[in-house]
Amino acid sequence: MRKYSNTQIALHWAVVLMITVQWWTAAAIPRTHSPLLPPSAWDLFQHKVHNYCGMTIGVLIALRVALRFARGSWSGFRLSNWKDHTAAFVHWGLYAALAAQAFTGFVAAYYWGPAAAVHKTIWNVTLALISIHVAAAAWHGFRRDQVLSRMFPSKQA
Ligand code: HEM
Ligand code: HEM
Repeated sequence: MRKYSNTQIALHWAVVLMITVQWWTAAAIPRTHSPLLPPSAWDLFQHKVHNYCGMTIGVLIALRVALRFARGSWSGFRLSNWKDHTAAFVHWGLYAALAAQAFTGFVAAYYWGPAAAVHKTIWNVTLALISIHVAAAAWHGFRRDQVLSRMFPSKQA
């Protein structure tokens, strides 16, 4: 039976943590570009953290997709057909949205400012997908089925 490796699990939670950092640091960016007030050192620091953390997310997403193809998906416990399809849609949607966000953020910061509008729009898609994903995780938690434990390390093979 295939399961997520500890590396995949660690990457999942590292990206969750880093998305929180992105959400938290993003608000400082417009302040660093204000034509009226000089940016504070703290805001400039947050902008830097946002850029480097965002680029790291991009690299980690590429790694996760590569691992996903190399190892395949969980094959031990299947939900009903539509639930499995919805889960796959949301999972691949999250990978695509996060990759697109890292890319458009990079382009906006270093090459072409107007890409920031796309970057912000994709954030709404990312948020919507995260909401569905976390709601589904909570639902599985209440049902106490085996789904939630897939993303936590365990000894069983
Ligand atoms: C997956 C990774 C990323 C996430 C989740 C993310 C998230 C966000 C969020 C939530 C905002 C604020 C959106 C809003 O105000 O409505 C934002 C803005 C911004 N991000 Fe990112 N970001 C990511 C990667 C990057 C990268 C890699 C860079 C640059 C190297 C970057 C540069 C920016 C810039 C410049 C803005 C300000 C746009 C503006 O206010 O005009 N982001 N990001
Ligand atoms: C920023 C938030 C999150 C993002 C972007 C995210 C992203 C993902 C992605 C892309 C997958 C698919 C892995 C694969 O098969 O390749 C996944 C799986 C999973 N995630 Fe998250 N996740 C987030 C938060 C959470 C939270 C808060 C929980 C639990 C409370 C959670 C629990 C799970 C579980 C249990 C799976 C495995 C589902 C299955 O195998 O069908 N995730 N996550």
